Amino acid sequence: MPSNRLHRALIVSHKPVGRGYYRLVLKAPEAARSALPGQFVMLRVSDTLDPLLARPFGISAVISRSSLEILYRVVGKGTTMLTTAKAGQSLSLLGPLGKGFPRPEKKTVPVLVAGGSGFPPLHFLAQRAGSRTHLFLGARNKECLPPADIVRSFKELADKVHIATDDGSAGQQGTSTDILDAFLTKTERREHLVLYACGPHAMLAAVSKIAAEHAIPCYVSMEERMACGLGACMGCSVPMKAGGYKRACKEGPVFDSREIDWSEQVLLKLKR
Ligand SMILES: Cc1cc2nc3c(=O)[nH]c(=O)nc-3n(C[C@H](O)[C@H](O)[C@H](O)COP(=O)(O)OP(=O)(O)OC[C@H]3O[C@@H](n4cnc5c(N)ncnc54)[C@H](O)[C@@H]3O)c2cc1C
Ligand code: FES
Repeated sequence: MPSNRLHRALIVSHKPVGRGYYRLVLKAPEAARSALPGQFVMLRVSDTLDPLLARPFGISAVISRSSLEILYRVVGKGTTMLTTAKAGQSLSLLGPLGKGFPRPEKKTVPVLVAGGSGFPPLHFLAQRAGSRTHLFLGARNKECLPPADIVRSFKELADKVHIATDDGSAGQQGTSTDILDAFLTKTERREHLVLYACGPHAMLAAVSKIAAEHAIPCYVSMEERMACGLGACMGCSVPMKAGGYKRACKEGPVFDSREIDWSEQVLLKLKR
């Protein structure tokens, strides 16, 4: 269940894990107990009013009944400030928020597709979904893949990890959607497959198209820029095929890919 409760979360550990990412483990018992894969938290990165807005982060794992893990990439002011937080300090945390991925049924074979820094919520899903999972990871080159420890963890959790890089420096040469399409084309029994994807919008649009062509259900996590995280500001609107918009923070971030108007979604991004 989403929770609008504000918690003081104690930092249990906080370390760089390579490739510009940090692993933050927070003691937040209520949030850890109720968190579902695909949900996110709003974290205040400092105790001052600068920056004013909390930052959204997916939950990448639940470590125990009381702790959860966040994997974040340093991209700007907020995440740079967050890197200075130390074990023993506490951070203000709101959540877990939003609607996560629908729980895979017993017979489901989850096929996870991650691009860019979209892998953290899929790591939590892999943790819950178990060993029948396939994961497709794509990046521009080897250095842009998730940190080595995270790839190793995915390999332990999943049945198979398929890697593609644009320049061929790791895995197969191509995009995650190229190798996903090839995998689906050669898979004979597709009736139990369900796609779960998180990453850049162009990748999500491509995954959505492939899912439609292969008649496979597909759920995408739309990591829009967020201000309030609570459904009040409409800053995270996602255009719907049926008309109108839905809020990624409230009705998402996970949507059935068929609901989304991908053409308008791409146009909106170009305007920003
Ligand atoms: C639901 C959700 C879950 C997320 N989960 C994770 C996660 O698990 N790990 C992680 O590393 N990041 C995650 N993000 C992205 C993360 O929130 C941003 O990277 C962070 O807010 C950037 O803050 P900043 O102050 O460092 O950067 P800013 O100074 O605010 O921005 C720096 C640059 O990052 C870009 N940026 C900021 N937010 C986003 C976004 N949402 N999508 C695309 N580009 C963005 C800006 O356009 C700008 O170019 C998630 C976002 C959402 C909405
Ligand atoms: S972030 Fe304000 S409505 Fe979604």
